[in-house]
This record gives sequence, C-alpha cells and structure tokens, in this order.
Amino acid sequence: MTAIVEVNGLERVFGANRAVDGMTFHVQPGEVFGLLGPNGAGKTTTVRLLNGILPPSGGSARVFGLDPASDGQRVRQQTGVLTETPALYERLSAYENLAFFATLTGIPEAALNGRVLEMLAFFGLEDRAKDKVETYSKGMKQRLALARALIHKPPLLFLDEPTSGLDPEAAQHVNALIADLSHQNGQTILLATHNLLEAQRLCDRVAVMNKGRILAMGSLKELSRKLWPVTWVDITFWQVPAENATGSLKTLRGVKQVTGQSVAWQVQVEGEEVIPQVVQHLAAQGASILKVNPRDYTLEDIYFALQAGEK
Ligand SMILES: Nc1ncnc2c1ncn2[C@@H]1O[C@H](COP(=O)(O)OP(=O)(O)O)[C@@H](O)[C@H]1O
Ligand SMILES: [Mg+2]
Repeated sequence: MTAIVEVNGLERVFGANRAVDGMTFHVQPGEVFGLLGPNGAGKTTTVRLLNGILPPSGGSARVFGLDPASDGQRVRQQTGVLTETPALYERLSAYENLAFFATLTGIPEAALNGRVLEMLAFFGLEDRAKDKVETYSKGMKQRLALARALIHKPPLLFLDEPTSGLDPEAAQHVNALIADLSHQNGQTILLATHNLLEAQRLCDRVAVMNKGRILAMGSLKELSRKLWPVTWVDITFWQVPAENATGSLKTLRGVKQVTGQSVAWQVQVEGEEVIPQVVQHLAAQGASILKVNPRDYTLEDIYFALQAGEK
C-alpha cells in the first residue's frame, strides 16, 4: 500500500524557532492519523507545510506523491482543510457559502446544487440552509466549515483542532460526523489536536509531539506496550480465595508477580495471552472469580508519560 502522506525529516524554522524539527511519518489510505501535542508543538505548521501554504526549511514532504512546496495547487485539489479559525462568509447563508466554495474548487455548474444539498444533509444543516451564517451557533458554523472542507470530495482531509471552542454537545456532534466520515466513507484524515480523549476515540495511530519533534508514534496498544511492556490484571474474587490458589499462580508460565489480599489481587503477566491461563488456574483451584480486569492505559497516560520525559 502506498502512503498518501510521506514526511521525511521535515523542518521549518521561524528565525531561531525550530517549529518543525525533523519530523518523519507516513499516513496510509483510510487511516485517521493524529498529531498530538501542546500549544506550539508544531501541529498547525505541519498542516500548512503539507498543503503548500508554507515552504519547508529542510527535509521532504510528499502528498499523493507530489511535493506541496512546488505543486501546492495540485495537492490542494485533493485535500480538504479545516483550519483553526475557519473562514466563512457570515453575511451569506450556508447554501451560498457552499455554492461559492464549490465553484472555486471547480465543481461543474450542473453538479453544484446536488453536491451542496448532499453536504447540507450530511452535516445536518438543511433546515437552516437559507439563514445567514452570522445567526448560527458555533457548532453549526463548525459543521458548515467541515462541509466546506469536503465540498470537492477530497481523498485527504486535514482537521486542525476541529472541536476547539465548542461546547461538549456540539463537540460530540462534530466528532460523530468525523467518525462517520472515517467508518462509512473510509476517509483518510490527519487530525491535529490537543484533546486526548477525542484523539483516542478517533485515531488509528497518533504521533505525540513536542517542540517540533515526534516523541513516539503508533496505535494506543503499540504505545502502551512500548512504555509499559508488562500487563497488570486486577482480579476480584467473590469469596477470599484459598492461599494455595493465589500462591501457586507464581509458578505459571508468563506470570511475573502476584500481590494482593482478601478478595482483591493484582497479577503481573508478560502479555494479555497469559490471562486465560491465569483464570483457568484459579478456577481449577476452586477460586470464585468475580471480575478480571486487564489494566488499560489511556492516551492521556501515554501522553503525560512522554511529555514528562521531555522535561
Ligand atoms: N508564521 C509564523 N511566524 C513565526 N512563528 C511562527 C509562525 N507560525 C508558527 N510559529 C511558531 O511555531 C511554533 C509552532 O506553532 P504551531 O505550528 O502553530 O503549533 P501548534 O499548532 O502545535 O500549536 C510556535 O512556537 C509558533 O509561535
Ligand atoms: Mg495549532
């Protein structure tokens, strides 16, 4: 499979400020790839470099095999970008905004009306399509901005902080639409955000950034494994288990540590594949198991562990 985005050692400096400082990552077709990092990490600069809005200071970027620095227009024909502060015409209606941007992107006259109506329906804006954008809520404006970014059906979508400034309900609505785009249409998305919960829900893989550099990259599972190579399992019993049941656990292959007391025990195993054997062993010893919970790490755990390593 050929990557849609290929970034190798990409750099962008502003004076002495190394905003993007040697980034390397690839985005595959159909993937939702997250760029995560605090303010000033270089997320927006990366998005701008990949769309040919800014030239790089070093390294290389390819989008659909094209160099955005020299072929920006052709790249932008195939990308949609939701910028941090989306530019919409407040005095025009949603329909007029979309019709205008549809014309700009070269959608033929005959297809224009159908395309605009399709986008209004997908983003739940049909009812208010004729009202001026200045009368819209923030959430509606953001949905319209998303529709604008997608009006020419770009195979690659960039979303820069798509829910910043939205209330939880509006943010949830926008996120559900982003998830639909990915699941229903297989839309390839590069999502820049500092919202970790959102990234965990939406992204297949993330790159955790700081000061223009990638600290770590991978799926949630891969990153957890890298940072915490062992798995802890919390086991709760219905009744206090016999001493030999928990005591003999240590002799099982793949079990590294056993601690706990009364009905709450913690078992450290080499990997999740050991857990069924632990359960079988305990059951065979007559222990009454109530709950077995492998400890999951969140993207937040990963993010803070990585950022702490930077300080
Ligand atoms: N046009 C610019 N001129 C000067 N400095 C800039 C410019 N754009 C971004 N920067 C600087 O580059 C760094 C990365 O910014 P940015 O890419 O906006 O980060 P993020 O989107 O992750 O918050 C910041 O230190 C920012 O001040
Ligand atoms: Mg930004």
